[in-house]
Amino acid sequence: MDTINIFFYLFLCVLTFLILRATTAIHLRRRKTQLPPGTLGLPFVGETLQLICAYKTENPEPFIDDRVSKYGNIFTTHVFGEPTVFSADPETNRFILQNEGRLFESSYPASIQNLLGRHSLLLMRGTLHKRMHSLTMSFANSSILKDHLLADIDRLVRLNLDSWTARVLLMEEAKKITFNLTVKQLMSFDPCEWTENLMKEYMLVIEGFFTIPLPFFSSTYRKAIQARRKVAEALGLVVRERRKEREGGEQKNDMLEALFEGDGVEGGGFSDEEIVDFMLALLVAGYETTSTIMTLAVKFLTETPHALSHLKEEHEEIRLRKGEVKSLLWEDYKSMPFTQCVVNETLRIANIISGVFRRAMTDISIKGYTIPKGWKVFASFRAVHLDHEHFKDARTFDPWRWQSNTGLISSSNVFTPFGGGPRRCPGYELARVELSVFLHHLVTRFIWAPAEPDKLVFFPTTRMQKRYPMIVQHRSLFDLCKK
Ligand code: HEM
Repeated sequence: MDTINIFFYLFLCVLTFLILRATTAIHLRRRKTQLPPGTLGLPFVGETLQLICAYKTENPEPFIDDRVSKYGNIFTTHVFGEPTVFSADPETNRFILQNEGRLFESSYPASIQNLLGRHSLLLMRGTLHKRMHSLTMSFANSSILKDHLLADIDRLVRLNLDSWTARVLLMEEAKKITFNLTVKQLMSFDPCEWTENLMKEYMLVIEGFFTIPLPFFSSTYRKAIQARRKVAEALGLVVRERRKEREGGEQKNDMLEALFEGDGVEGGGFSDEEIVDFMLALLVAGYETTSTIMTLAVKFLTETPHALSHLKEEHEEIRLRKGEVKSLLWEDYKSMPFTQCVVNETLRIANIISGVFRRAMTDISIKGYTIPKGWKVFASFRAVHLDHEHFKDARTFDPWRWQSNTGLISSSNVFTPFGGGPRRCPGYELARVELSVFLHHLVTRFIWAPAEPDKLVFFPTTRMQKRYPMIVQHRSLFDLCKK
C-alpha cells in the first residue's frame, strides 16, 4: 500500500471512529456500572495498536498480563474497531463456547465472509450448522482415520519428505503436506500439476485473511478475491465432473461423495455453490493451523534436545519393530504416548488459534458483570494456557507435564486448543494423526539444524518469520540399528 492509500485509509478510520465513538459513549454511560473493568484506549483505534505491537514480538504476553493484573480475568477493551469483553477465565470461556447459538454467535467481519463464501461451515447457524458439523466430523473421526485416512496421510507425508534436499523451508513443506492431504480427503486427488496450481491460487486467498480488507486500498485483498473466484471455478468444475461420473454409477469414498448424498437447506441436495463454499472453508480451516503446529513442534523440539531424544527413542522403537515395512498402521499410531505429549504441549504453548470472537445475542450476566447485547467477546485460550494458576511453569515447553498430568494444576476445561461446544474443531483428531505421522517420519529419517536464526511472531498469524529454514541430512537404517 503506498503512502496516499495509507492516508485515505486512516481518514476513513477516523470518520468511522467518530460515528462509533458516539454510539459507544452512549452505551458506556448507560451500562458503566455493570461492564467488566477496563479501558477503551485511544479514540477509534482503542487498544488495537498496543495489541498489534505486542503480538508482533516473540513475547506478546504483557498485553494480557498487564490487564489481568490491573482488572482481573475479565476485562473490557477496544480492539479492531469495536469495544470487546476479553475473557482470560476458563469458566467464562466454557460458558461462551457452550452457549453458541443461544446467547452468543460466532462473528466474522464481512471481508472474511467474502473470502470464505456464505455457505461455509464457519458461517452457518442453527440446525444446518449442526448437521454439517456432524457430517464433517464423520469424515475425520477415529474409524475413518483408522480404516482409510491414515494410509493416505502416511503415504503423502513420505512422498513430501522424499523430495527434501539439503536445505528446506519447513513451513512451506508443512503447508504442501497439509494442502495435499486435505485435497485428497475432500475429492480424492493425488498431488499433480492441477493441485499445485490450485495451491498457488489458494495461498493468495489465505493472504487475504491477514490484510486490510478494503479492495480499493489493498492489492493483496483484491488479489485474494480474484484468486477465490479462480479456486471456486476450479472446484466447481470438479463438482460438475463428479456429478456426471455419479450418473454413470461411479462413486468415490471422500467428502465430496458425502456432500452429494447430504440434504441441503430445503431438504433437497446441496447446490454446486454450497458444495464449493463448504470445501473451500475446510481447506482454509485445516491448512494453516496444522502446518504451523507441525513447524512449531519441530522448533520447540530443536530447542529442547532432551525432549527430542525422548521422542526419537519412541519412534526408533516403532521403526525397528517394523523392519522394512515403511507405512504406519493404526497400532503404531496408538503406541506413541510421548508424541501425544509433544503434540499437546505444542498446541498449548503455540496457541495457533489464540481464542475465538463471539457476539452477545442479548444482555448477558456473568460473574457479576453484564455483557451488553451486540458486544463482541473474546474467549482467550492463550491467556488460560499460559496461566501459572493452571499450568506449572506455564511458559516453558515441557511435554512431560502431560505424562501423568503432573504439570497441570487444575484439570478440567483449561486446555482448549480446539475450542469447545457446538463449534468445536471437527478436525481435532485428524490434526493429531497428521502431526504424529509427520513427526515419526521426520525423526526417523532425518537429522537437522536451523539454517539461520528465525523469529516466532503472533501477528497477523502465529508464524515463523523466515518460514523456519533447516539444513537436513538423511539418517540411514544403519544409524537406527546402531542404537
Ligand atoms: C492443529 C490444528 C488445528 C487447530 C489448532 C484447530 C483449531 C480450531 C478451533 C479453535 C476451532 C473453533 C473455532 C470457533 O469456535 O469459532 C476450529 C474450528 C474448525 N476447524 Fe479446526 N483446528 C485444527 C485443524 C483442523 C483440521 C485439520 C480441520 C479439517 C477438517 C479443521 C476444520 C475446522 C472447521 C471446519 C472448523 C469450524 C467448525 C464450526 O464452525 O462448526 N481444523 N478449529
